[in-house]
Amino acid sequence: MADQGARVGIVCGSRSDFAVMEKATALLDSLGVASELHAISAHRAPELLDRYVGGARERGIRIFIAGAGGAAHLAGVIASKTLLPVIGVPIPTQVAGGLDSLLSIVQMPKGVPVATVAIGGAENAALLAAEILALSDPELRARLEAYRHGQTASIEADPSNEGLAASAGQ
Ligand code: RP5
Repeated sequence: MADQGARVGIVCGSRSDFAVMEKATALLDSLGVASELHAISAHRAPELLDRYVGGARERGIRIFIAGAGGAAHLAGVIASKTLLPVIGVPIPTQVAGGLDSLLSIVQMPKGVPVATVAIGGAENAALLAAEILALSDPELRARLEAYRHGQTASIEADPSNEGLAASAGQ
């Protein structure tokens, strides 16, 4: 389960969430940030999740991104087990379009925070994780600046690119 060198631990509640969460993996890859993606359900495999989160900091993980749908308690459960920052991604659902996931993740009671992005907003979760890591990594900060400049330049060069720069859930 341990991926050598990963700084971001991406966890989702089911393999059915991979299509959304792989967008975070891809964006982190493009920024040169090593990550690992695992499906570990908080309710189907609570002890495995406990072991994964418990050993993460020692292995080099600095931030978690947690994606889940429906009664989406995964991010809050991870946050309860660690002082590493946790970013939650509400997964779109058939039943309520992901509003169920959003409210489950964003409405954490005080004391244990989860930073929540938009429904399906895995790319923004990746960018936020990279920005946090960049606080102590000037080279990553430079790559993030290049990403921002490239995004702006592509829109200025051709305003029809704006739709390409935006992503699902934004
Ligand atoms: C949640 O239930 C998962 O995060 C997923 O979004 C949703 C459905 O899971 P599956 O029934 O597809 O495994 O735990």
